[in-house]
Amino acid sequence: MTVTVAIGAQFGDEGKGHIVDHLSSEADLTVRFQGGPNAGHTIRIGDRTVILHQLPAGILHSRCTAVCGPGMVIDPFGLTEEIREVREKGLFLGRLVLSERCHVILPHHRLQDAWEEGLRGKDALGTTGRGIGPAYMDRVGRMGVRLADLKRPEILGPKLELLYRAKPYLAGHPDLPPKERLLTDLLRVGNELSAHIQPTESLLWQAVARDDEVLLEGAQSTLLDIDFGTYPFLTSSHGTSAGALTGTGLPPQSVSEVLGVLKAYATRVGGGPFPTEAKGADGDRLREKGGERGATTGRPRRCGWLDLVLLRYAVHLNGMTQLAVTKVDVLGGEPQVPVAVAYHLPDGRESTLEPPALAEDLALVEPIWRFLPGWEEFTPTLRERIAREGHYALPRELRHFLSFVSRETGVPVTRVGYGPSREETLELPLGVLESARSLAPWPGGSS
Ligand code: GDP
Ligand code: IMO
Ligand code: MG
Repeated sequence: MTVTVAIGAQFGDEGKGHIVDHLSSEADLTVRFQGGPNAGHTIRIGDRTVILHQLPAGILHSRCTAVCGPGMVIDPFGLTEEIREVREKGLFLGRLVLSERCHVILPHHRLQDAWEEGLRGKDALGTTGRGIGPAYMDRVGRMGVRLADLKRPEILGPKLELLYRAKPYLAGHPDLPPKERLLTDLLRVGNELSAHIQPTESLLWQAVARDDEVLLEGAQSTLLDIDFGTYPFLTSSHGTSAGALTGTGLPPQSVSEVLGVLKAYATRVGGGPFPTEAKGADGDRLREKGGERGATTGRPRRCGWLDLVLLRYAVHLNGMTQLAVTKVDVLGGEPQVPVAVAYHLPDGRESTLEPPALAEDLALVEPIWRFLPGWEEFTPTLRERIAREGHYALPRELRHFLSFVSRETGVPVTRVGYGPSREETLELPLGVLESARSLAPWPGGSS
């Protein structure tokens, strides 16, 4: 088993950074395959916290090569800044390779992002404002600039010329640099990154042929995928496992495991339907306890409960073979844990697997809840016991919850995050939840 794709199963921010960092200690390569600086992947190492936006988590591990794959859109100015910050923390330990095929986010894209959000008014998507959508639009419009162009002034110049002509509505904007200045700046930053910009396809094929451990690090997640997410409230790339192929150039048969990463509850940042959102005191408590603020924009995250309809959908879309459940510590002390097991749809039918395609209809579904018994508070004593004894020390009701998730999705839970630190991840050998499955029926029952 050599190539693992880690995919967020919800609306982003599930703790992918935490889990991928944990797995990276064994990996030879980690590869981001889509998105750009809209991502914010947090990793806590001792008392240091790093938030990676464009760098793959493998950069924090000395034996690892961290690759930004062809499916990414890169802000080269932001990237040099990020490299500097991670270096200053003494954590830039791996080797960085940037695919020459990555598209470049330009000042135009950020301005266009803001302009389009303004046009949408009260229906704004709540983007991260990083120019992601417009950069991908220029990619499919065959007008994009790629990292390879930054080494070739004779190619870059005419491409910028075309872009300035194609976007007359941005002409004269005070934040749009003159073309000549942008050309100079791009060539300078291209020169700074030049040693990292390379072809990456054969690098990955060779790694697979050698049986190296390769980790493909998803960003944004399943329900923000451009096709399968809650259109139009989503991002402009494929955060599902299919995107891991087009975004790297690896063929389907090279993937051995698809690890779905989910929170024990749910969050969403930005607009769009969120059927299990908890408004009021429950939502506030989850936000407070879980520290739920956007890692990229600092916006408060909307909070709610685990949604098994969306999770089953994510399992099927991605072909998930394992699950990692994070933030179980945040729910410690809750008397009961609500989980949505199905929806009443607006047309009167029930659904357990497939959400409506229209965001407007998804906003109207009524979750059918089941209430599982809560588990104890994650006190320092409990954390120490888990660190010492491993999964044997997990509270019985939590094992029950994990077993329930596993049974309802048909996918084993193989990892549990119980705190933000690098060490606070537990591996669950296959079968250890079996005993929890035979517990008595859930108190509270379904409603
Ligand atoms: P990502 O985008 O999926 O990598 O997730 P983010 O970094 O945006 O958000 C996850 C947040 O939860 C970060 O603040 C992490 O430090 C934190 N976190 C991750 N795993 C755990 C966990 O198991 N328990 C707790 N309490 N926090 C966690
Ligand atoms: P990670 O990788 C959570 C959301 C934005 C907005 C929508 C579109 O950290 O999980 P965009 O700027 O991509 O055009 O914004 O997508 N969004 C994220 N939400 N986590 C992310 O990344 C996100 N990246 C984008 O809030 O609703
Ligand atoms: Mg994030």
